[in-house]
Parts: sequence; C-alpha cells; structure tokens
Amino acid sequence: MPKNATNLLVLGIETSCDETAVAIVNGARTILAHNVLSQIDDHAEYGGVVPEIAARQHISGLDHLIRKTLVEADKSIDDMDAIAATTGPGLVGGLMVGVMTAKAIAASAGKPFVAVNHLEGHALTARLVEEIAFPYLLLLMSGGHCQLLAAYGVGNYERLGSTIDDAAGEAFDKTAKLLGLPYPGGPAVETAATDGDPNRFNLPKPLLGRPGCDFSFSGLKTAVRRTAEACVAERGALYPDDRADICAGFQQAMGDCIADRLENAVDAFRAKVGDGTLPLVVAGGVAANQYLRSRIKGIAAKNDLTFHAPPLSLCTDNGAMIAWAGLERLALDPLIDDRDVAPRPRWPLDGDAVPKVGSGRKGPKA
Ligand code: KG4
Ligand code: ZN
Repeated sequence: MPKNATNLLVLGIETSCDETAVAIVNGARTILAHNVLSQIDDHAEYGGVVPEIAARQHISGLDHLIRKTLVEADKSIDDMDAIAATTGPGLVGGLMVGVMTAKAIAASAGKPFVAVNHLEGHALTARLVEEIAFPYLLLLMSGGHCQLLAAYGVGNYERLGSTIDDAAGEAFDKTAKLLGLPYPGGPAVETAATDGDPNRFNLPKPLLGRPGCDFSFSGLKTAVRRTAEACVAERGALYPDDRADICAGFQQAMGDCIADRLENAVDAFRAKVGDGTLPLVVAGGVAANQYLRSRIKGIAAKNDLTFHAPPLSLCTDNGAMIAWAGLERLALDPLIDDRDVAPRPRWPLDGDAVPKVGSGRKGPKA
C-alpha cells in the first residue's frame, strides 16, 4: 500500500448474492462504519437464494443502508475518494442494483467508480485487517467458490487448483438441506457437529492422495444423503444424534480433503516463489468454520507458513471487503474510473485459468 494511501476514503457496496452490505474504510485500515442487511429470512423457506427475491430486496434496502452508513461514519459522499461496488461474479440482478447505484452516486458527486471483483474482495480482506505482504497462498472457500491461488499482487492471481464440482459452502448448504437443517447450512452444520462422533460413519474423501490441488465435494454430499437414508431405514427417523454424527463426519472428511489439497498447494506455491516463511490466507464464508480453521492452521504450522484469517464478520460477504479492494485499486491507480464496466456474472480471479465446471450459485466455481 503506497504511503499516501492512508488518507484515502472509499465507500463500498456489496449486492452480489443475498447480503446488501455497505461500508466506509480508509487507507489506515479503519472501518469507519459497516452495515449488512441479511436476506436469510427471505430465502430460508426455499432452502437457497432466489435471485429475483434477492434483487428486489437489494433495491428496497440499499439507499437506506448507504445513508445509515454515511451517518454512522459521520461523513458525506463529498468526503469519499471513490465509490466501489461488486461488479461480479454473482447474481446479475443484484449486481446491477449495486453497480447502477454506485455509478449514479459517483457520477453525481464527480467521484471515480471502482469495479470490484467479489473474489478479490475476499482475497484482500486479510490485508484490511493486518499488514500482509505479497506473495501469499490463498485458500478461498465460499458459497460459490473453492480455490487455491497464488496471490502475487492486487489484480495478479494464479489459480493452483479449484473445485471440479461443488464449492465448499455449497456442500455445507446441501448437506444441511439433506439433513433438515436451516439455511445457510455452514453455521448449522458446524453447530450440529459439535456434539457428534466424526468416526461413526465412514464418509468418502474425494481426490485424497491424488496429485494436484483440485477439490471435489459432490461425492461427499451424495454419501451424506445415503447415510441419512440408511439411518432413517434403520431407526424410522433421523434422530439428533444421527444428524450430529453425520455433520461431524462430513466436517472431518472435508477437513481431510482440504488439508491434503493444501499440502500439495504449498509445494506448488513454494516452487513458484521460493522457500522461507510465507503467509497463508484463508477467506470466504467457509473460513468462518472453526474446525476447518484449526485444521488449516495445523498445515500452516507444519509448513512454515504464517496463518491469517479475517475475523468471522469479515469472512462472510460484507461491504468493507469491497471498499478495501476498491481502495487498494485506487491507491495503485489514482486515475481509475470504471464507469464503462458492466456487471459480470462470471469473472474469474485468474483470467488465464481454464474453467473447471459450469455455472454455480455465484457464477463459475473454477
Ligand atoms: O463468502 P460468502 O458469505 O458468500 C459467497 O461469496 O458465497 O459464503 C457463504 C457460504 C455459505 O455457503 C455458508 O453456508 C458458508 O459460507 N458458511 C460456512 C460457515 N459460515 C458460513 N460454512 C461452514 N462453516 C461456517 N461456520
Ligand atoms: Zn462471498
């Protein structure tokens, strides 16, 4: 971060999925105000995000949230150096709401608009929290994505591996749905797993021991369904102890897979950037999971990597990560103005990487 960037002030808007979020951050790593309007209750009865409902809720909530955030930060739009908004990947209806609002504010106030890649928002959040120098190894696990990347700089990422089917968060959400747990599934599965026996059921660990850094979680999800069906066949219903044991087994299997893939990624990363102590950053909603965090921390310690994860409130989607990514871009390019950039439902972090799978909840998972 250039020295003169500490005075920069950016308003960030996030509307790519089911959170309407706004924040103001400065270049000295202070979040002046941030607000998240969750739509969980609006989508819960459908067991997942309904794009049309999401877009409508963003429209009805965003203006008020921007005003509230400005008031809390005791700032006006005129104080901002730029307005940033998630421009992709994500659900196009929601992206349009955030991008059009941000562009309108930017145009009327004569400020630059910064188009932020949602994944880059996650990728850079750890740098909002503490000073972490590039390069770092990045494990990004969210509802629509699961990737291992070498982060060389702002806008400069190389994909080392990604899921070939379901994203990590998607696997949590589908598992929860199969077990009758509420949406979003990640926190529900994590809570249910606390009392469970992870070794009662032998769940598969896709790609374990194979070369490379790709992930696969769809077999795990199928095994969860079969195991739950077997429990029902045996006892007439899925009892809380069955559910707890399946959740604990699922989390353990996922932890084993992530640990195995991460070990390979460390080797691949070191082959590119060399030896010595290097940072490992985890990001995205699934990084909020305490069990997975502890497994990943173990891999970091074993491999001479420093472990960095944003606080839980900054792991799931939020406006501060978008404001910060916008600020990092503005600091590198003070003349930036992306007003001609349109929303991009698909927008990979590593543009050179060949997509691994088709569309997911938030666009390409690869
Ligand atoms: O990053 P995020 O808020 O949105 C996307 O960009 O997708 O991630 C949401 C995902 C959901 O799939 C949710 O179930 C998962 O993150 N998640 C968790 C936890 N908290 C949220 N997964 C596992 N454990 C958690 N504690
Ligand atoms: Zn996200």
